[in-house]
Amino acid sequence: MNVWSYFVRLRSTASLAVAAVALALLCAAGPAGATGDAARGQTLYKGCADCHSIAENGVGPMHKGVVGRKAGSVPGYDYSPDLKNSGIVWTEDNLDKWLTGPQAMVPETKMFFDVPDAQDRADIIAYLKEKAR
Ligand code: HEC
Repeated sequence: MNVWSYFVRLRSTASLAVAAVALALLCAAGPAGATGDAARGQTLYKGCADCHSIAENGVGPMHKGVVGRKAGSVPGYDYSPDLKNSGIVWTEDNLDKWLTGPQAMVPETKMFFDVPDAQDRADIIAYLKEKAR
């Protein structure tokens, strides 16, 4: 093998490695908004914690078991009649809609807080799924 062909081989191995790294990075990033990062969600949840906690009712109802439960169903919490009678079940999709704009979903609700960024919402929901079971 002459020196030149050795050089060409080296180069193609190197670019393959670059391509592999790029592909790995792409896969790790995933499609935007599809997967949430619970660790990041935990930090973002601090914004909710002015009114909510996982285990106790406060200004807002506790979040224990919220993913999958019926809206307005925490005992001892005084919900707005509209949320209580909404028939909503807190699927991930419904939580995403809720956090986008509670008033758009339940006009007379008394939660006035929204999360405009889709990735932030996905991360918060991932956190609730993991920590508020
Ligand atoms: C300023 C106070 C406040 C903040 C901040 C807030 N909420 Fe709320 N939240 C409320 C109130 C009040 C209700 C009850 C609404 C009603 O009865 O209409 C509520 C209700 C909810 C419900 C419905 C729960 C159930 O039992 O049906 C969910 C889910 C929820 N909030 C999630 C969040 C998340 C996640 C955040 C942070 C991104 C957040 N909230 C931030 C006040 C707040």
